[in-house]
Amino acid sequence: MHALSKLFLAALSLTTLVGAHRQSRAHSRHRRTPVRRQSSNKTYTIQDLYQGQDFMNEWDFFTGTDPTGGNVNYQSKSDAQSKGLAYVNDCDNSTVLAVDSTSTVASGGKRDSVRITSQKSYNSGLFVIDASNMPVGCSTWPSFWTVGPNWPSAGEIDIIEGVNNQATNQMTLHSGTSQSCSIAKSNSSTDHFTGQVLGTNCYSTQNADAGCGVEDTDTRSFGYGFNNAEGGVFALLWDNSSGMSMWHFARADIPADLIAQSPNPSTWTTPAGFWSAQSCDISANFYDHQMVIDTTICGNWAGGSAYSSSGCPGTCSDMVANATNYVDAKWVINYVAVYQ
Ligand SMILES: *[C@@H]1O[C@H](CO)[C@@H](O)[C@H](O)[C@H]1NC(C)=O
Ligand SMILES: *[C@@H]1O[C@H](CO)[C@@H](O)[C@H](O)[C@H]1NC(C)=O
Ligand SMILES: *[C@@H]1O[C@H](CO)[C@@H](O)[C@H](O)[C@H]1NC(C)=O
Ligand SMILES: *[C@@H]1O[C@H](CO)[C@@H](O)[C@H](O)[C@H]1NC(C)=O
Ligand SMILES: *[C@@H]1O[C@H](CO)[C@@H](O)[C@H](O)[C@H]1NC(C)=O
Repeated sequence: MHALSKLFLAALSLTTLVGAHRQSRAHSRHRRTPVRRQSSNKTYTIQDLYQGQDFMNEWDFFTGTDPTGGNVNYQSKSDAQSKGLAYVNDCDNSTVLAVDSTSTVASGGKRDSVRITSQKSYNSGLFVIDASNMPVGCSTWPSFWTVGPNWPSAGEIDIIEGVNNQATNQMTLHSGTSQSCSIAKSNSSTDHFTGQVLGTNCYSTQNADAGCGVEDTDTRSFGYGFNNAEGGVFALLWDNSSGMSMWHFARADIPADLIAQSPNPSTWTTPAGFWSAQSCDISANFYDHQMVIDTTICGNWAGGSAYSSSGCPGTCSDMVANATNYVDAKWVINYVAVYQ
């Protein structure tokens, strides 16, 4: 029930993300025997390191209406900087992307926030984010994700996502090209991944876009638990031939080879999520992805029935009015790195 209602809400959450309208067709569920993880035994080399001012210079600030229906006004780079919603901490070079926590807005009104997109796009590799704080609290909906053009044709990969007081991180793939992209897990293959499957079919359309989600089991992977643990690292390994793997590492558990910038994920612990290429044609479904970091408020997911079921007080519309609710609604990012 819990997972189902969450799926339903996740489905709603992305319905307006799309540009193209696509007719919804019956899903063909594709079930297979899971196979062992086969990530290549390879040490990755850094391609792009985004740190400090790079987020202002090499990522674009999205200023359109929030496609997920949130109560936010996404700010331009110059406005975000002059309002103190996007800046670099001199002491440690970390980048802050914040929600306005000083203005009073009307109930159901829109609060200033930030959504940035990498100028570069990618077709595979190891994607890493190190953050010491993520936006938290009732009504917030933060996400770090990647997406290709003409949604959902080129797919979407949600690496960090959740709403309100959600206890653990939710990772999701959305495929749009082939209807037979799925995730499989059985108890006999415990080495695959540690997370809980929320939905097996990744195929997404405008009207059916829950995707194939996996929920992390570690409360340090999201929200207050993440921030209280001084944050940590999330990694996506996108490998066309083996599949998509995702890890969360609490700060004390970050692999030494990653800290040394010479990561070999085949030596890492079991991932939190793994989507095998045996049950999803990775290169057909995922291409030309840009990375996105955003925080929205309320909207299709956080503001729907998830709001009260999260134990949040009153209504999401009232919550957005009160600036003090957003003091901790900020990303503090040490770096984003892409390795090949
Ligand atoms: C990876 O390759 C190295 C060097 O060839 C080898 O020593 C190691 O055993 C391999 N590890 C795995 C998990 O295959
Ligand atoms: C801070 O980030 C910039 C890139 O924006 C980089 O050139 C610089 O080396 C970083 N400084 C430190 C101390 O890490
Ligand atoms: C895996 O084990 C759990 C707990 O024992 C059980 O509820 C679930 O049905 C099992 N799943 C499969 C696919 O066997
Ligand atoms: C993975 O697939 C994409 C999409 O087809 C392709 O552009 C990319 O070159 C592939 N990556 C590798 C390393 O082969
Ligand atoms: C604003 O939010 C704070 C913290 O949640 C709460 O203590 C305060 O009563 C709220 N103020 C109003 C006017 O709702």
